[in-house]
Amino acid sequence: MSSDQQSALLPHRRLRSAVLFMPGDDLHKIQTGASLGVDSVVMDLEDGVALNRKAAARNVVCEALQTIDFGPTERLIRLNTSVSGLEHDDLFQTVSAHPDGYVLPKVESAEAIRSVSHWLAQIEERHNWEVGAIRLLAVVETARGIMNLNEIAAADGRLRALIFGAEDLAGDIGATRSKEGWEIFYGRSAVVLAARAHDLQAIDTVYVAFNDDDGLREDARRALQMGYDGKLAIHPRQVPIIHDAFTPNAEEIAHARALMQIFEEHQRNGTGAFEFYGKMVDMPMLRAAQRILQRAGFSSQ
Ligand code: COA
Ligand code: MG
Repeated sequence: MSSDQQSALLPHRRLRSAVLFMPGDDLHKIQTGASLGVDSVVMDLEDGVALNRKAAARNVVCEALQTIDFGPTERLIRLNTSVSGLEHDDLFQTVSAHPDGYVLPKVESAEAIRSVSHWLAQIEERHNWEVGAIRLLAVVETARGIMNLNEIAAADGRLRALIFGAEDLAGDIGATRSKEGWEIFYGRSAVVLAARAHDLQAIDTVYVAFNDDDGLREDARRALQMGYDGKLAIHPRQVPIIHDAFTPNAEEIAHARALMQIFEEHQRNGTGAFEFYGKMVDMPMLRAAQRILQRAGFSSQ
């Protein structure tokens, strides 16, 4: 397949393999997060911040955005929920520091996204910023959210990714978390399916035992197998493990490239399905190979 055809099939997307959270009231952690070369950081105003620190956190997040060089790292802020009574002030008191986007927690309807998008449009117009440029990512982590995934995923053009939240979902449905994770399997699978159906990225839940590197590696591998594009991190030591899990190695890249090349040759010769390293190859395998190259950052070449 020619590079032109490749880029036509795979519009360039920002990679979000590791998305690191930090409490929005902790400038030191934000500074650390900005220095790690992580794809995205999320400065949290929601559950990572105590109720009596919400106002302080908004100020710290603004200061961070105005004073810290994040390099190419995407700068996101997580708002409180639409029913908290805090969301409006979270947004209006931080937006002038111009983050790249906002993360919305416990999203249960399209309206929860559209109302924020509407505010953002007014703000962008007022500042003479490009309208629609501030991105949204939605965390789906309640039973209602899972049941309404289809409308949530289709809600708004600003939406870039669905994020799965296992701990909140387990709490909401009364499940007990287990190592195997069957109690959250339906939700975890539903989120990635909804994301794919609406051409969004899917980002997997936090792995809370942040000193358990082997457990995280296994959990990230499972998320990748399920189709996820990346995973949340809550501690710097999780970042390289997640990054490695979602970044194809040289052998995988070489294999994907070879497969695409031989696919193109077979297409020219009028053959749709053929054998490659003992396996049948046809269109689905080509798409899998394209996804590997996309994850490796080659999508726009
Ligand atoms: N982002 C950036 N830096 C972080 C970090 C994070 N999420 N978590 C820890 N660090 C830094 C610490 O500040 C410390 O830096 P220092 O050595 O310069 O002082 C270093 O990494 C080691 O931290 P450690 O002592 O192992 O962890 P801790 O006890 O300070 O913090 C947590 C543990 C869980 C409280 C912390 O990792 C954290 O705040 N995570 C994010 C929580 C969050 O945002 N939750 C909401 C979303 S789910
Ligand atoms: Mg949550």
